[in-house]
Amino acid sequence: MNPDRLKQAVKLLLAGELVALPTETVYGLGADAANPEAIAKIYAAKGRPADHPLIVHLPAADHIAQWAQDIPPAAHDLAAAFWPGPLTLILKKQDWVPPAVTGGQDTVGLRVPAHPLALELLAAFAAARAPAPAGIAAPSANRFGRVSPTTVAHVREELGEKVSLILDGGPCEIGIESTIVDFSRSAPEILRPGAIAAADIARLTGISPRLRGGQPKEKSADDDFVPRVPGAPDAHYAPRTPLRLMDSASLAEELVRLAHGGQRVAVLAHSVDAPSNPGLFSGWRAAAEPAAYARQLYASLRALDALGADIILVETPPAMPAWHAIADRLRRAASGAAGSS
Ligand code: TXA
Ligand code: MG
Repeated sequence: MNPDRLKQAVKLLLAGELVALPTETVYGLGADAANPEAIAKIYAAKGRPADHPLIVHLPAADHIAQWAQDIPPAAHDLAAAFWPGPLTLILKKQDWVPPAVTGGQDTVGLRVPAHPLALELLAAFAAARAPAPAGIAAPSANRFGRVSPTTVAHVREELGEKVSLILDGGPCEIGIESTIVDFSRSAPEILRPGAIAAADIARLTGISPRLRGGQPKEKSADDDFVPRVPGAPDAHYAPRTPLRLMDSASLAEELVRLAHGGQRVAVLAHSVDAPSNPGLFSGWRAAAEPAAYARQLYASLRALDALGADIILVETPPAMPAWHAIADRLRRAASGAAGSS
């Protein structure tokens, strides 16, 4: 990073201001995790309820003990194997960690992101703070309940002037948020699926993590779910245009039916070209391979949303583990669209 820009970013963080930063998953809206007033600015900018916990980003795995205690060996194993990377560990917090960042809970979410700019910023911020603990609290840099940003343009669209500085790290490599594993209870549990799969975790730790809830309507951790508080809405990652998931055959039929009714239909399909039908408003071909699909997912949803169609039909992803995280995000987008909760 340009040294002046890096200095400016550290200075803003030390002063309790917001800095948006790239990670390998999605862009984050960062603030000094030890400063409750700075954290309050994140909640205000996002319009997010204050009892939703934030992930604290660290420069390296050896900072973990400054923030968490009673860390199980399996959590250390995962950190050693996957950090820097798209994995968040939920652990019992150190007593000093401000409740502002944990949503009042006794646990803290920690992750070391795998993006060179984020790591450079985290290292410089930690150096400025040493020997005190230094972490950057960063939720996805979108307004509450909206699609996460994977480019600087998305961050501007979401938060604009509400953020003092946006660091440009190019489009995010992974494109969907980190896998969250909760180690604060008796057995590890995946609260949010991501690029690191349950099988990877089982292989590394010898423990098969539980998946929160089941399929397909369960709740799991995200902006709109407050852990251990019942009745939180399921909707998240929602475009404004209503979105429905269906298999490729039903999709073609539904397109004809809706078009007959005068509806403008946009389609996102990965295994078939969008059917050539006069009722089709816009057809998008998504990648047929899950990593590439995930990388483009949020940009595709934004672009489809911007078309102003009456409905977006999305081809249901394959029912295979490699597609699990994508299916989770699409399901949320569908349940968050107009007409549902
Ligand atoms: O990939 C990511 O994780 C991105 C990038 C920026 O790092 N961040 C992200 O943050 O997705 P956010 O705030 O949009 O989603 C994090 C979710 C929260 O909504 C919350 O449910 C869960 O992580 N979380 C954080 N701390 C937690 C805790 N102590 N207990 C349970 N869940 C927690
Ligand atoms: Mg988010």
